[in-house]
Amino acid sequence: MRRIEALGRISEERQRLTRTFCSPAMRRANNLVAAWMRQAGMTVREDEIGNLIGRYGRPRGKVLLLGSHLDTVRDAGRFDGALGVILAISCVEQLRRSNTRLPFALEVIGFADEEGVRYQSPYLGSRVVAGTFARADLRRKDANGVTMAEAIRRFGGRPARLKQAGCDHTQLLGYIEAHIEQGPVLEQEDLAVGVVSAIAGQARLRFRFIGQAGHAGTTPMRSRRDALCAAAEFVLAVEGCARRRAGLVATVGQIQAEPNASNVIPGTVTVTLDVRHQSDPVRRRAIAQICNDAQRLCLARKMNLVVEVIQATATVPCSRRLTALLKRAAGKHQARVIGLPSGAGHDAAVLAKITPTAMLFVRCKGGISHHPAESVKVQDVRVAMAVMTDFLVLVASEYE
Ligand code: HGY
Ligand code: MN
Ligand code: MN
Repeated sequence: MRRIEALGRISEERQRLTRTFCSPAMRRANNLVAAWMRQAGMTVREDEIGNLIGRYGRPRGKVLLLGSHLDTVRDAGRFDGALGVILAISCVEQLRRSNTRLPFALEVIGFADEEGVRYQSPYLGSRVVAGTFARADLRRKDANGVTMAEAIRRFGGRPARLKQAGCDHTQLLGYIEAHIEQGPVLEQEDLAVGVVSAIAGQARLRFRFIGQAGHAGTTPMRSRRDALCAAAEFVLAVEGCARRRAGLVATVGQIQAEPNASNVIPGTVTVTLDVRHQSDPVRRRAIAQICNDAQRLCLARKMNLVVEVIQATATVPCSRRLTALLKRAAGKHQARVIGLPSGAGHDAAVLAKITPTAMLFVRCKGGISHHPAESVKVQDVRVAMAVMTDFLVLVASEYE
């Protein structure tokens, strides 16, 4: 918990926790976590996109991956991502202290970018490990016009070598990630930990409403093509669409009005849309409905519309075998063990393409996340540590 606090103080903003891809704050975070990895007896390297990788055990041969992400959203909580990395390091320390030998190596990965805050494209780190990184993403520009390729170079990586940076999938035994639940279920069930059954698919889109900027004082209301009014109608249409479909969540999280002056009618407004559901067909149908709503309201307002799909990831079931082992390990420390779906996205959804994955959820207060009030109880973290360590021993016993 001391390490969580120390890591939570490394931010690129003075008043709140924000740590984004390839930023100076990420450099400081990687250096601090690398020191903890070395203290735990791991050899440490950083790959071409800035993933921090600590290895415990033989330098070659079969390996089980653990970890989570080290980047955060803006004004983040201290546990999202960080808990999974630091808990994994503590498990390695535990194994080392108890002189527990595993017949395979462990690699703890601190992924460089899961949230996608700087370049709007999430899972950059895990996609490089999984070999699914899209080279076209290197041309994306951040709010200051810095391309992703340039950001990687400044951080010490070589964009041209990202392809080779992936890992040898044939050596992987699996990936296990501990993460705060970011939801209310474990608290309602009064359980410290839960085992994830599936990770909800998600899509991120960008809608650009193009009207006509104009003088706020002299342009009659009936002749306006106000892009912000169109966007406002759109946001409420999105909320209505999600409320009518059980299990669907849809969020307009970012809005940008141009020219963004109080006495000018907004000519262009860009908004982001985040849509998720456990069923991919339901999510896709909802997105089609939302796009129709946007087209229709733009027609009525004589405006243009540009829609861009930024990324989409399908719902990913966790590995049955690893999940069964994780449930067995949890059963040693909790009278009841439940499986639950994850509404949040995780690097595990990307790693599942190349190796069996499992996730352990840890209860968090009020289910609050992506917010500085994010918190967990020490005793729940202790349970998660014990479950994770027993899980590793169970994998080893199956492996022999
Ligand atoms: O947005 C998410 O689901 C995750 O926190 N990246
Ligand atoms: Mn998050
Ligand atoms: Mn996360």
